[in-house]
Amino acid sequence: MQGKTYIKMEKIQVNIKDVFGTVTPEAVEALAPEAAKSLAKLTDHTGEGNDFLGWVDLATRTGADLLDDINATAASLRDNCEVVVAIGIGGSYLGAKAVIEALSDSFAAYRNDNGPKVLFAGQNIGEDYLYELQDYLKNKKFGIIVISKSGTTTEPAIAFRLLKDQLEKQLGREEANKRIVAITDAKKGALRSLATTEGYKTYVIDDNVGGRFSVLSPVGLLPIAVAGFDIHALVKGAADMQKATLDGSDKAALTYAMTRNALYQAGKKIEILVNYNPKLHFFGEWWKQLYGESEGKDHKGIFPAAVDNSTDLHSMGQWIQDGERTIFETVISVAAQQHTTVIPFEEANLDGLNYIAGKRVDEVNKMAELGTRIAHVDGGVPNILINLPELSPYCLGSMIYFFEAACGISGYILGVNPFNQPGVEAYKKNMFALLEKPGYEKETEAIKSRLA
Ligand code: PA5
Repeated sequence: MQGKTYIKMEKIQVNIKDVFGTVTPEAVEALAPEAAKSLAKLTDHTGEGNDFLGWVDLATRTGADLLDDINATAASLRDNCEVVVAIGIGGSYLGAKAVIEALSDSFAAYRNDNGPKVLFAGQNIGEDYLYELQDYLKNKKFGIIVISKSGTTTEPAIAFRLLKDQLEKQLGREEANKRIVAITDAKKGALRSLATTEGYKTYVIDDNVGGRFSVLSPVGLLPIAVAGFDIHALVKGAADMQKATLDGSDKAALTYAMTRNALYQAGKKIEILVNYNPKLHFFGEWWKQLYGESEGKDHKGIFPAAVDNSTDLHSMGQWIQDGERTIFETVISVAAQQHTTVIPFEEANLDGLNYIAGKRVDEVNKMAELGTRIAHVDGGVPNILINLPELSPYCLGSMIYFFEAACGISGYILGVNPFNQPGVEAYKKNMFALLEKPGYEKETEAIKSRLA
């Protein structure tokens, strides 16, 4: 997979002409001064949440030494393991999952020829999921990458306890410890203490890089490297986008941030990220976390949703075409495919498909995309179009940085702190109270009397 030749070293482009039935060019442009100020807050650290801006220049700060070290660790895991389980949740999971899915053979999981598989755990507390994972790992050579910035998150901690126990039973503690890599805070948290005690290989998540902005740190880079993909190219794509965004030569992030805020102000409260490539499903999940956790606060914020077309045209398509007009779409259009599949001619033509015989499947897909965009715009759903040259590490790196920068700018335009997530704590407090975690006695009493 890593030997694949990608053709394009181009950045993404944003086209907003299909929003102008809903908002005027002037309404978008009116946000330009606020957008410019917001971008400046990201670089001069004068906005809220400015202690979490390490991601802004992370790509250019990430040196070849670190990338080479990550590749060496990945190579050792690949050499010694049939399967590597990446344990993490939220920002410690979604970025790696998104990039690996976008770059992988769609049937990699069913092939035996692809080197070690990267599986994920700790992103849920499904008992059957964990049971079945452990069952699958029985008699397999496996390794673990455990990722938690805080080092105290319950979901990954449970998964790690189970898999660590299994690995130690399979190999003995000393050997098991050589197949575990921990990515966590430099000093704080239970995972850091455990890693120090056991002598695991570790990587640090910088204090100033929040979870959902951490895909270009070891959090995302190590699992992506283990999956066999080119992290140098991924980071280069992000670094080029970073330079162009920050020096003002590429206005894509500003344009996207201004446009979505103009649409929000015009009553479009839901943004649907649309792809026409099943490999981008988890990119949509990553994007939902980035924007949902960054902007949904103070009773404000666009609700981020995502669909995979044309699959979802046969489920959500009706709602999008005809439901409440509070939505807009952002379509990721991937220009070039990696493979060519042509629809064959058939003499009998019983299925009536000869009118597209000889065409590439992608040509049909592109017409589905164009036809849908026109239908939705005509139906009152404004449309932002993002052109991605291809699904390559370089282009994905570029798109990741674009969305991160636009998210910071957009959050500041909206008037929230895009870099905290106070709302995530509420469920944890209740869960700990219900589980009677030491230190939560008062909350336990309160929740029990409420449930009585
Ligand atoms: O973006 C965030 O900060 C969160 O989604 C975290 O990434 C998530 O809660 C996991 O946290 P941790 O890495 O501390 O286990």
